[in-house]
Amino acid sequence: MQKGALCYEGKAKKLYTTDDPQLLWVAYKDEATAFNGEKHAILQGKARLNNEISSMIFTTLAEKGCPSHFVRKLSATEQLVKRVTIIPLEVIVRNKVAGSLAHRLGLKEGMQLAEPLVEFCYKDDSLGDPLVTEDHIAILAAASQAEVARMKEQALRVNELLSSLFARLGVILVDFKLEFGKTETGALLLADEISPDTCRLWDEKTGARLDKDLFRHELGNLQEGYEEILARLSTSSS
Ligand code: C5P
Repeated sequence: MQKGALCYEGKAKKLYTTDDPQLLWVAYKDEATAFNGEKHAILQGKARLNNEISSMIFTTLAEKGCPSHFVRKLSATEQLVKRVTIIPLEVIVRNKVAGSLAHRLGLKEGMQLAEPLVEFCYKDDSLGDPLVTEDHIAILAAASQAEVARMKEQALRVNELLSSLFARLGVILVDFKLEFGKTETGALLLADEISPDTCRLWDEKTGARLDKDLFRHELGNLQEGYEEILARLSTSSS
């Protein structure tokens, strides 16, 4: 597999073409951003941690019948994925109140939700990725009604699988964000990454944060938290 030209650079990853037009080469970056890019830092080792963790999670999901764009790991910091056109929506699933939900509704952080909550945000940095309803999604033509239903269904399935995976590792999956894309044939496919950058993960016993809130709110060393998640995932797969 040959790495071709840079075709996209995001906050945490670079995407390159390959000699196969259906596949892209993802290189994770040692960079952390928060609050829509207002806070930024270079964090040595983050690329490896997110690549390893995301690869393990996508592999586990595939084994449980939940496919994604992930094809295989290429190196410590790189992976091969299927090329998709990203749907401009962030699909957020929440099991407990935290982050923007706590702020928006004035609810106490850590409150258990009776049922998992699914939210959609419109991916647009200039607007600050606003929360949108299904009617907004229709106006924006971001996805069809059927695609919205399918994304919600798949997101809830991912939540079931990952909540029980992390529970076995003594970690609470508080919330997470997914992105979906469409293949050339129009099929919906789970894409982007699933890592401590995109999930809230709390240690079950101590409540310690093992995710990007360590960086967002300066609660501790990000790499140590991510190493802990990688170590626990590694014991579960060995
Ligand atoms: O900030 P908020 O509480 O809405 O985030 C919900 C979840 O979605 C968190 O796990 C957060 O890490 C993730 N998220 C993300 N990328 C964004 C916004 C949120 O990964 N742009």
